[in-house]
Formats: sequence, C-alpha cells, structure tokens
Amino acid sequence: NCPLMGWSSWNTFGVDISEDIILDVARAMATNGLKAAGYRYVNIDDGFFAGHDADGRLRFHPLRFPNGMKRTVDGIHALGLKAGIYSDAGADTCGSMWAGSGTGGKDAAGVGSGLYGHDAADCRLYFNDLGFDFIKIDYCGGKKLSLDERARYSEIARAIRATGRTDVRLNICRWAYPGTWVSEVADSWRTTADIRANWKSVRTLIGENLYLSAYASPGHYNDMDMLEVGQRTGEIRSIFGNHGDTGLSEDEEVTHFGMWCMLSSPLLIGCDTRTIPAFTMDLITNPHLLAMNQNRGLGVQGYVAQRAGDAYVLVKDADTRFGKARYVALYNAGETNRVFDVQSASLDLGGKVRVFDLVAKSDGGAFEDRLSVEVKPHASRFFRFEADRRLERTVYEAETAFLTDYQELKDPVKAGTAHPASCADASGGVAVRGLGGRPSNDLIWKEVRIEKPGLRTLEFVCASEEDRQMVVEVDGREVARPVVRANGAFTPCAAVTLALTQGVHVVRLSNPTGRMPDIDLMRVCTPLTTPWGEKVTSENAWR
Ligand code: GLA
Repeated sequence: NCPLMGWSSWNTFGVDISEDIILDVARAMATNGLKAAGYRYVNIDDGFFAGHDADGRLRFHPLRFPNGMKRTVDGIHALGLKAGIYSDAGADTCGSMWAGSGTGGKDAAGVGSGLYGHDAADCRLYFNDLGFDFIKIDYCGGKKLSLDERARYSEIARAIRATGRTDVRLNICRWAYPGTWVSEVADSWRTTADIRANWKSVRTLIGENLYLSAYASPGHYNDMDMLEVGQRTGEIRSIFGNHGDTGLSEDEEVTHFGMWCMLSSPLLIGCDTRTIPAFTMDLITNPHLLAMNQNRGLGVQGYVAQRAGDAYVLVKDADTRFGKARYVALYNAGETNRVFDVQSASLDLGGKVRVFDLVAKSDGGAFEDRLSVEVKPHASRFFRFEADRRLERTVYEAETAFLTDYQELKDPVKAGTAHPASCADASGGVAVRGLGGRPSNDLIWKEVRIEKPGLRTLEFVCASEEDRQMVVEVDGREVARPVVRANGAFTPCAAVTLALTQGVHVVRLSNPTGRMPDIDLMRVCTPLTTPWGEKVTSENAWR
C-alpha cells in the first residue's frame, strides 16, 4: 500500500541502456544500502525494444539487449529485487519522437513498440513469460493517435488483470492529473511534465502537487516523477547534461527529496546507483524521511496548512489517522531567508509539542502555540511533531477537498470542471472555482472529524459574481440550500448549525444544474447560541 521505492533508468541513461548497465545498477542497489533502506524496484524505461514483428511479437533491441530480457529480469529477482518495465498506450514511445532522447536524435527503436494493438500478447510476455512486477505506461503514442485516456488506460489495466497477476503495479504517465477515475485504474500516476535536474524544475513540480492531497489514498499516489537527487551542481552525470540539467545544491536536494516524501510520491532514484555522492546517499536512506514517505501505508498526502507568499507549512498525520503525531514541512520556495511562524493550532495540535528534526535526526526541544524557524532560500526543514493533544480541525480549505470532476488533461475553464485557482484575497491564496452545473462537479470534504459530539456551525467563505445557490449535504443528507448573493470578495456567505456525532463526517457542496459560488474554505466551530436561540451549554449542546 506504500508509495513505490526503487530506481529508474531514464534520468541517467535515457535510451542508452543494456543488460550490463541494468544488472550492474541492481547489484549496486543490493549491496550499497539502498535495498536495505527499502528501494526494491529496478525499472527499465524507454529503449529496450525494437518494434513488433509481422506476427505481433515484441522484439528486443539487438544491441542493447541481445540476450532478450529474461536474463535481466531473472538477475534482478536473484538479488531479491523487483523488476519494472515501460511501454506506451499508443503505438510509438516518447523516445521515438523526442530528438533529445538518448545520446543522439530520435530513437527508431521506439517506433511500433507500444502496447497499441498488442495489449494481450505484450502483457502475457511482460508479466507471465518474463516476470516483470511493474509497468509504467507513457502517452506520446497515445497522444499521436488521439486516444481517450480513461478508455485506453482502463483497457490496458484489464489486459494486465487478464494475465492473472494481481501484484503488478501500474503507473500511468500522462504528465498531468488525469481525473479521479485514475485511482480505480492505476497505483500511481504522473502529475507533471518531465523533471530536470535544476531548481526551477523541482520548484515547479512541487507547486503542481501542493493541492492534490485529496486524490491520494492507500495504494494510490500522485507521482511527482523520478528523482534528480545525486545530480549535483557541476557534477552532472546524466545524458541530459545539455538539456538544462544544471544540477542541485545540497539544500535543494533536501527540499526535493523531503517534499517528495511529504507529498507521498513514489521514490524512484534517477542517478547512477554505483556513484551516489555520500551526502545524497545519506539523505535518500534517511529512515525518518522514508518513514514520512511510506507512513505505514496510511496513504495520506501532506497539505498546505499555512502559507505566507513563498513560505509554505505542510502537514500530514504520522503513523495513525488523527493521532497526536504529525509530519511537518517548512518549505521556502523563495529567493530570500524566511522566518516561519509555525502555529500549532493550524496543525490541529494542542498543548506542548515535542519536535524531532528528520534531516538532522535529532530532538529539537518542545514548544507551545508558536515556533519560529528561519529557513534559507530553496531550503526546507522537516519535522515530526508530537503533541499533548490532537485538536478538532476548525479550518477546511477548499483546495484540500475532493473535487469529483477534477482533471488537468483539458483546460478546466473550457471543460467546465472545478479546480483550485490563485485568488489573492482567498485564505492561503487559493480557492476552488468552476463548481456546479452537473451533479458530479462538486466539492467534498471527506474527513470532517468531530472529537466531541455536539452542536457545530459550518460556515462557508465564498465569493460570487452573481446570485448563486449551493446544496450543503452532511453524510448524504441535505442540511441547507443557501443562495449566495453577488459579492466582490471572499466573505462568510452561508452557515448552518447542526448536531454532529463523534467521528468522521462527509460534507459535500454541489449544485446539479446551476453554477456555484467560488469556495475559499469551511470553518467548523462550536456556536455560542443554539439554532433555537438559547445560549449553548453542556446540557443543550447535544439533542
Ligand atoms: C516521457 C516520460 C519520461 C520518460 C520518457 C521516455 O517523456 O515522461 O518519464 O519515460 O518519456 O522516452
């Protein structure tokens, strides 16, 4: 159920791979501490094939894999590791189209090597005959054939199931969040364009994953792409050195790796495992950071709890849901030193909070209410906080909610699908726009946890260009249908007071026919007076 950990050939070798390289890299992993730290998958990316023959049989590259693939897979398995492979939803692979692939121009080997027209035979070959345990399925060929992502990837998932293998892990590589259907089809899915070994790329990829926490669940993760740690400034070893890979500093590596852990991305090392710099090796085998990533399969992705410009505080539960321990990241995406004012209440933690620094592997004392930490530009700090009490959450940002129709394949404004958008006057600088018009174009907070049963007021902060209506449902039952009057800025625009039991509740906002207001957040608070006008006391708070 945990995010996948392993290595992939692409970032260092491009299509210039071979049996020797793959087995050598795998042997290094088995002995240098990576396997022991949990890195298990050895994934072969683009370049191993050479089209299909007249009978529809996949051919392997005569120079790169002259012995076929069986020896490579068996060799990986003999080391106690798992083997991964690559294909495309269409007929041709990305390497066959992109002139920057490998060391030279376009790689002819990728032409006709994709799954299209060969699903059943290729899946039998990969998973039954050869014994691969993972597949990444790219989309350059799918795009060329104008295939429908959902239909095509579902078809491929069925072909994988038809092999009888239930343990094969499927990664969809469509370079954008494909839509909420993806959780039913894949174990992980790429959310962005390809990573490069430079700060701008790392910062962009983090930015594109900050508001996707609602779509991660146990065994189903947003994939931020293969790691570029180990590609250090001035020491680039990848074949992409001339494609903007200027390398990363130590601070940038910590941010890169730590944020992939906070955001529960698969961790696929991209550098040459035989020559990993000591600093990087220590970072990627750090048991505390890895525990934050794997999190015992809890399947929660960190979300933004506080933000001041480029300074982000992210948080997620550690080890158990709604417990007193949480992982916290202080991420400085900016160009100047920032002093973070971390407020324990915004992390739903109360009383004394004990601090453990994951990167330094050391205790950082304790604090109450506020902690001030200075963070250098491009740097991040990662902690495990352990508090006296877990507080009931009072602020639910819209950008942490599940939007059933959310997708990034098409322009959401043109497609009419709800999406988080930058709004200067919204809390955290982000609100959800484009809601309503269809039953499924809704917003759902799936985990509204009430600690003590009783009355609560749910207050919604919205903005609306015109009078718009929304339906408020709690646990599937309609509780209000407020009309939000046209207003210029985000303001409290609707509230409903009701009694809630202890435990997790679902709050859904929708409008099946008309447009909805833009939503900034929901506040959950204990009201001072009951809906029938009495002062709230311990007696009447629960009826
Ligand atoms: C695409 C993918 C990369 C890599 C290459 C191979 O660009 O996004 O991760 O697999 O194709 O050609």
